[in-house]
Amino acid sequence: MKTPQFFQLHHEDSDQIRTELLKGLQSSQAYTSPKYLYDALGSKLFEAICELPEYYPTRTEAAIFLEHAASIASHIPQGAALIDLGAGNCQKAASLFEHVKPFRYVAVDISVDFLRGTLDTLQRQYPDLDMAGVGMDFSESLNLPAAAMGDIPEVRALAPRVFFYPGSSIGNFTPDEALAFLQRIHAACSAHGSDAKQGGLLIGVDLVKGTAELEAAYDDALGVTAAFNRNMLLHINRLIDSDFHLDDWSHVALYDEQLARIEMHLQAKRDVVLRWVGGGRVFAKNERIHTENSYKWTAQGFSDLLQNAGFAKPVVWTDAKEKFAVMWAAA
Ligand SMILES: C[S@@+](CC[C@H](N)C(=O)[O-])C[C@H]1O[C@@H](n2cnc3c(N)ncnc32)[C@H](O)[C@@H]1O
Repeated sequence: MKTPQFFQLHHEDSDQIRTELLKGLQSSQAYTSPKYLYDALGSKLFEAICELPEYYPTRTEAAIFLEHAASIASHIPQGAALIDLGAGNCQKAASLFEHVKPFRYVAVDISVDFLRGTLDTLQRQYPDLDMAGVGMDFSESLNLPAAAMGDIPEVRALAPRVFFYPGSSIGNFTPDEALAFLQRIHAACSAHGSDAKQGGLLIGVDLVKGTAELEAAYDDALGVTAAFNRNMLLHINRLIDSDFHLDDWSHVALYDEQLARIEMHLQAKRDVVLRWVGGGRVFAKNERIHTENSYKWTAQGFSDLLQNAGFAKPVVWTDAKEKFAVMWAAA
């Protein structure tokens, strides 16, 4: 059996993380990046969210992959380096291995410990596939270590790069940020001398729909999404030595139709005095910390965005109710 290589570029004790978090927490409208939702427990809670009856995106996307596997695979070059951005439990990429037959699987995620565990399990399932894990924050850079892309430079140069970005994680970015991120993926398709023309992006995008269905998906009856959101406070406590108490905060998820986005917030149940080493701030009762956006797209709008980022006109697959779209955009 092969052993997955692991490259850890993300370290939770960096000054940069502290500076970024304090900037958001000290803003008049406090905010945090959704990437802080994912520590090891956050990743497990997200797996549980994917099982919830209200959370349609995961099962809808999986059904599209299953139903259209042959068609999807016919567009994707075989023998590619398959680079999974925000790989989580890696199961979506694994469902494509049989059809896409990558020469190498490269799983990228900020949740480093969780990624190590899932990659070890995945290697046992696919003992002959070359695998690498890269623990990094891709919102900073998409410069993947050359060694993660394969040990033999000639092979690496020949292999097309296929980026995989499922789960509508692109929705965490504003439309402007999403365009910039897609442009970086487009540029990365040709890094390390790979043949950019053959590479591309396979991406999952959640589509605009009714408010009730969207709000239920982000505020389930069992309270798992609430736990996922509130767990971020425990993660932040570890990152900046702060003293958030879970009892002080409740989960809020609202759909803004104008902006076509779900917003997740944590709302103070009472006046809260928050302290961290070297500082602090007061939150008045009902004040919120904005923790995540999840933008919804029309298929046409996202197809235009991909082309504005430099990709070819995408091939689009959707479910019968057009809740979710999967798109292949050649570089
Ligand atoms: C919504 S989950 C999707 C997981 C999986 N791809 C799926 O579709 O089920 C987002 C994943 O991206 C990772 N992630 C979020 N922000 C990231 C960042 N800035 N850099 C690297 N990984 C990130 C999280 O740890 C998490 O595993």
